[in-house]
Amino acid sequence: MFIVIDGIDASGKSTQVELLSWELTRLWKTVKVLDFPRYDQESSYFVRKYLNGDYGKNVSAEMSSLFFALDRFDANYDFRDDMEKYDYIIANRYVSSSMIHHGCKIDDITQRGIFLKRLQNLEYKICGIPQPDKILFLSMSFENNQKLLQKRAYESGTTELDLHERDTKYMRKAWQTAHDISAQQWWILIDCEENGELLDRESITEKILRCITHP
Ligand SMILES: Nc1ncnc2c1ncn2[C@@H]1O[C@H](COP(=O)(O)OP(=O)(O)O)[C@@H](O)[C@H]1O
Ligand SMILES: [Mg+2]
Repeated sequence: MFIVIDGIDASGKSTQVELLSWELTRLWKTVKVLDFPRYDQESSYFVRKYLNGDYGKNVSAEMSSLFFALDRFDANYDFRDDMEKYDYIIANRYVSSSMIHHGCKIDDITQRGIFLKRLQNLEYKICGIPQPDKILFLSMSFENNQKLLQKRAYESGTTELDLHERDTKYMRKAWQTAHDISAQQWWILIDCEENGELLDRESITEKILRCITHP
């Protein structure tokens, strides 16, 4: 089964991918984890330059989404054979991340809809990458999301944020778009809060596990 964990920046994707793969391994399942974009690969050349701001702030959604699609196209030659070999392939971000982060550049709902269809055509049909069985979207309020973003920056000891992260206006827009899009797609929403309070990591993993093992 091919599962994607998605959500906006600092929504706990890496945390959940790690916990989930650990829990599935404990259940004697074979697990392979994928991470996108693959910053350490040559195929992410344009992604890295774009996120570093080398192309400026006005790169169109069509153009910027192409950078990320090509990185996945390249990766797919490494992982498509693994689809049969593992019980679970878990991707930390995938096409859904591009839908969120590039889709949010387009305000007009109709135009955005057209873009999202084209993007999925580009990735799944033209690039021919595997389609996930389940896309799990980690959902939380913008305020809780901002807290996690600051926490991660503090923990990693970095004050360096990328083109998107350092722009709060963009982050709010990405948050709103992500929630709008996730409601329109067939993604499974994982509510990471209870009464406005963020759930602990393990409780979120339990929710995800239930979604995966009891369809
Ligand atoms: N449920 C949670 N409660 C508290 N802190 C969390 C929770 N999930 C993640 N974190 C912390 O929030 C920050 C962002 O999480 P991370 O997994 O790196 O997010 P992402 O991969 O989506 O950017 C990290 O410092 C992480 O330890
Ligand atoms: Mg991460």
